[in-house]
Amino acid sequence: MKGTAKAHTNIALIKYWGKRNDALILPTNSSLSLTLDGFYTKTTVEFRRDLSSDLFLLNDQAVSGQAYERVSRFLDLVRKLSGEENIYAEVNSRNEVPTAAGFASSASGFAALAAASTRAIGLELSDEELSILTRQGSGSACRSIYGGFVEWQMGEREDGLDSRAVQVAPEDYWDVRVAAVELSSTMKKVSSREGMKRTVDTSPFYSGWLEAIPNDLMQLKAAIKEKDFEKLGAIAEANCLKMHATTLGANPPFTYWHDTTVRVMHAIQEMRSKGIPVFFTIDAGPNVKALYLPEHEEVVKSMLENIPGVTSVTLSRTGKGISYL
Ligand code: DP6
Repeated sequence: MKGTAKAHTNIALIKYWGKRNDALILPTNSSLSLTLDGFYTKTTVEFRRDLSSDLFLLNDQAVSGQAYERVSRFLDLVRKLSGEENIYAEVNSRNEVPTAAGFASSASGFAALAAASTRAIGLELSDEELSILTRQGSGSACRSIYGGFVEWQMGEREDGLDSRAVQVAPEDYWDVRVAAVELSSTMKKVSSREGMKRTVDTSPFYSGWLEAIPNDLMQLKAAIKEKDFEKLGAIAEANCLKMHATTLGANPPFTYWHDTTVRVMHAIQEMRSKGIPVFFTIDAGPNVKALYLPEHEEVVKSMLENIPGVTSVTLSRTGKGISYL
């Protein structure tokens, strides 16, 4: 009863920011991401009759506390789905997310866990069913089931059975590149889970965020269809700014930006004013991701590396969906 799977992380161009149901992880808005080949998690799950509780090892280190609980709660869902309720698993995960890249690993982590654990317990799920299950581990992870450009359609049902990812375009459709820019000050004080909850509950700007989503999504899909990079970048950057604006209106207010975050944003905009099409997006932390085309890779990389406070720049191409090993 053993399965191994590999999943890549993804970066949202239209962000998922807010839940309408915390337990099922149902979002308040649809989102759209790009799966990245540079960063992935490889996970082996083995269900064993001799275990009396789950074991979780990440990069060969036993994990306990909240991270362990999230994995074990997720395995409960898999056990329930399979009808095998009294069997525990050893989970071995390896994050090939260069720690320096400053990427959250929950997207690739839960996608790999979902694929490996369902395979191990003998469930044969379609990609759609796997995406619905993965969503309940971590929302953004449901997009990592697929490669390339992926939309998480929020759905309408209360049971969440229509809230899942669909592929908009495969990984070989368009060679858009992403540079993950890590900053020296990377302390994350508010998790994405907590940050989005506080924003939904208290920020008067949250309704403006929701109002903007349908048009942003429509424009982004058109940009992907037309392979219009300037349009894609402009929409992604503006959508990220709108998401981060909601946090300033929260109670208590907060921001994920550090001084260097703002410096990198300005440097990217400055570069653009000189004719290089490069755009930024930022998740629930201070690090910045730059979007650019292959012909500008060298100039973008050296510009980013030379910004004071930047500790590393890791380049990535579009990545594949889930694979079984
Ligand atoms: C800002 O997927 O980490 O990265 O569903 O609570 O596990 P949970 O949250 P998570 O949130 C990601 C938020 C984001 C935007 C995005 O990836 O769409």
